[in-house]
Amino acid sequence: MSKPYLQIIIGSTRPGRRGAAVGNWFHDLVIRDDRFGVELIDLAEVGLPLLDEPLPPGRGPYTQEHTWRWSRTISAGEAYVFVVPEYNHSYNAATKNALDFLGEEWRNKPVGFVGYGGIAAGARAVQALTPVVAALGMIPLTQAVHIPGINRVVSAGGPFKSEDRLDASATKMLDDLFRWAAEGGSLRRAATE
Ligand SMILES: Cc1cc2nc3c(=O)[nH]c(=O)nc-3n(C[C@H](O)[C@H](O)[C@H](O)COP(=O)(O)O)c2cc1C
Repeated sequence: MSKPYLQIIIGSTRPGRRGAAVGNWFHDLVIRDDRFGVELIDLAEVGLPLLDEPLPPGRGPYTQEHTWRWSRTISAGEAYVFVVPEYNHSYNAATKNALDFLGEEWRNKPVGFVGYGGIAAGARAVQALTPVVAALGMIPLTQAVHIPGINRVVSAGGPFKSEDRLDASATKMLDDLFRWAAEGGSLRRAATE
């Protein structure tokens, strides 16, 4: 049986962001774990503009080449992990924009979260993101990874200095993601029958 295809999406896009180091740490961990095919997607590189489609997804064909490209990318995923910073007690705008561009592409696929920030460890970012992915028909996992005091574990331009607790939490989330990737596949097959 082939491995489920996991896409890790780095949400933050600003210069000096910590998100790239967090995403690289998680990506390396998934490779070592060896249960998934994996792709690291960086929204800073994807470079979507603010939503510029005249119709909501599913109400008509996309009109922009970047939307088709994003649609093809996300269609390949069977499970996702969003790496999200906490900005003003929520998650960042680029992540919301990237979600809003698409519809059916996200449906019936499990999604995990790696949230990070200050003392709140990205908890409010993950809390705000959960109903949004549920509205898109995704399967949000309750087991998330929370990284408090992000500047403690990564400095600007530096690598992520992981801790056993964070690696263990990430592996636990992968356990759930692996189980739900199979369930999601059954749901999607049933929906097309
Ligand atoms: C616009 C902005 C708002 C922020 N608001 C919060 C916040 O509400 N809670 C928090 O814990 N950290 C907050 N922070 C700190 C960020 O979580 C921290 O800077 C983190 O590194 C941001 O992710 P990034 O470096 O990948 O962009 C904020 C940072 C920015 C840039």
